Amino acid sequence: MGPKTLVTGAAGFIGFHLARRLTEDGRSVVGVDNLNSYYDPALKRDRLDLLTATPGGFTFERLDLRDSAGVAAMFRAHRPEEVVHLAAQPGIRESVINPRESVENNVNGFLSVLEGCRESGVRHLVYASSSSVYGANTKVPFRVGDPVDHPISLYAATKRANELMAHTYSHLFGLPATGVRFFTVYGPWGRPDMAYFRFADAICKGEPVQIYGTGEALRDLTYIDDIVESLVRLLARPPQADGDRPDPGPETGAGGAPYRLFNIGFGGQISVGGLVGLLEQNLGRKAIRTHQQERPGDVFATRAEVLDLENYIGFGPQVPVEEGIARFADWYRERYKP
Ligand code: UGA
Repeated sequence: MGPKTLVTGAAGFIGFHLARRLTEDGRSVVGVDNLNSYYDPALKRDRLDLLTATPGGFTFERLDLRDSAGVAAMFRAHRPEEVVHLAAQPGIRESVINPRESVENNVNGFLSVLEGCRESGVRHLVYASSSSVYGANTKVPFRVGDPVDHPISLYAATKRANELMAHTYSHLFGLPATGVRFFTVYGPWGRPDMAYFRFADAICKGEPVQIYGTGEALRDLTYIDDIVESLVRLLARPPQADGDRPDPGPETGAGGAPYRLFNIGFGGQISVGGLVGLLEQNLGRKAIRTHQQERPGDVFATRAEVLDLENYIGFGPQVPVEEGIARFADWYRERYKP
């Protein structure tokens, strides 16, 4: 059966896909999620139905990570050996509007997960960080070793805080911790609050597509299957305590702490305007394009350097955005029958 794996945010986009893959691989998986209504809860329910229908060892518990006593009890009840922490209040623009939600979910919630890992002697914690930690940096591609001291959204600050908190637990308690900076993950069963999904909705309903700024902003879009493959491979490789390591780099822990950070991105770029065009092609309809003010908190351009990841796990993201958006559009048409 393999080690028991806890996946937080299991009804979320990435959590669902990962939990399904691990369950199909014959692993014992505990999924938790608070099933909140930040976006359509029916989508989360449907993901969960698919997960519970997957043959194998998937168990679900509804849990809010802000409930620290509940999280501690969950860890005691299930005793996971590995944890993949994906639950969060996502959304860069959301964090500008609701800063408290981001901190309570992403910082306090993560502390409870770290405490659970410590008390249960978890052998590997993999947790979600974000391309947004590169903040005001303009030099692309973004490298893990680049300075990340200038976040421009509170969401980015909470994700950077998670990396620092993980390092502390890795150093103090020897918790093997791997942080992954995801780059704009998309695909079937994705998040309806993200640009590609909002654009698809608008195009299919004949409503105006709202482009923030000129449409020249650039994103490194990363297809969900590439994320899942990377996570599965990383999970199998907990960082080792390395007493001989010379000066710590930003990618590794100080004093030999078992700590690693990686980018997971495709390594390409598409403009927001180009994304609208791709969706038009794949959905077979024209968009009504409108332009609005740029949103505070948004970075202009992202692109990941992924050599470290490829060297470490022998795999790097492979699905080009043209193919990934085509697969998303197929799923979208099947589900929503526009
Ligand atoms: C995405 C996720 O939403 C974050 O949760 C995640 O942390 C982040 O990726 C990441 O890489 O870590 P973002 O790259 O901003 O954030 O992706 P979108 O929300 O899809 O926005 C992409 C671009 O489209 C931005 O420039 C945004 O301003 C623009 N946009 C978004 C529009 O022009 N119109 C919209 O209606 C929505």
